[in-house]
Amino acid sequence: MRKPIIAGNWKMNKDVNEAVQLVNEIKRGVSDIDNVDIIVCPPYVDLSDAGEMLASGNIGVGGQNCFWEKEGAYTGEISVGMLKSVGCGYVIIGHSERRKYFGETNETVNKRIKAAIEGGLVPIICVGETLEEREAGKTMDVVKDHVEGALSGFDEGFIKDIVIAYEPVWAIGTGKTATPDQAQEVHAMIRKLLEDLYSGEWAAGTRILYGGSVKPSNIEELMKQEDIDGGLIGGASLKSEGFVDIIKTTSGLYA
Ligand code: PGA
Repeated sequence: MRKPIIAGNWKMNKDVNEAVQLVNEIKRGVSDIDNVDIIVCPPYVDLSDAGEMLASGNIGVGGQNCFWEKEGAYTGEISVGMLKSVGCGYVIIGHSERRKYFGETNETVNKRIKAAIEGGLVPIICVGETLEEREAGKTMDVVKDHVEGALSGFDEGFIKDIVIAYEPVWAIGTGKTATPDQAQEVHAMIRKLLEDLYSGEWAAGTRILYGGSVKPSNIEELMKQEDIDGGLIGGASLKSEGFVDIIKTTSGLYA
C-alpha cells in the first residue's frame, strides 16, 4: 500500500513569527500520527526556523522551488544545497503559479528535478491543465506533456523517489475542486503513463497527489479514490485546524 502524503504549500504566506506559530500548532495537532507523510512547504525565509523546529518528529519540510545550479551569480535563486542545509527533504517543482507567472517550462522543470534528486531532495512535481485546455478536451494531452517533459532523460533508478501532484489549474485557489471521478480519471492516466514509461512495479509504488481546493470537507471522498495518494494543500494549509483535520481524516482512512 502506498503511504499517503499530505503536504501544505504555503505559497507567499506567513512571515517568520506567523510561521513559527503555525508550525507549533500543526506539530501539536499531529504528534501521534505515523501513517501519513506530513510535509510543510513554507516560504524560504521561514525554512530555517521550520527546519529546526521539525528536525525531529513526524513532519517533513520542503521548499517551494529550487534552482539547478549549485551556487554562483544567480540573484534571487536558492540552491538545493541551501534547502538541505536548513532541513528540507522535499521541494515543490513546476507549480502552475510558477509556470504562469515566472516563465517555468517543461525544460526548466526537468533541470530543477535533476538538481533536486542529485542533491538528495524528493521533488513534488506539479502537473495540470488550465480551464481552457480542459474545455478543449486537451486535459490528458497536457498532463502527458507535463509528465513526459518533467521526466525526460531520467531512468527509473534515478527517479525512484519522486512524488507527482496533479493540480488542475482551474481548481487552484478557486474553491472549485475536481470531482473525485475527474481527479481519479487523470490520476489513473498518470499511473498508466508512468507504467508505460518505466515499470508497472515502480508506477504502482509511486505516490500521486491531488491539489486544488482540497479542504476538510472534501478530503475523504478524494482520498477514497484508488489512485489518489494524498493532497497538496494550499489555502487550507494556512490554518492549523483545517490542515490537522485533513491529516487526521487521511490517517483514519488508512488505519
Ligand atoms: P489550493 O492550492 O489548495 O489553495 O487550491 C493548491 C496548490 O496550489 O498547491
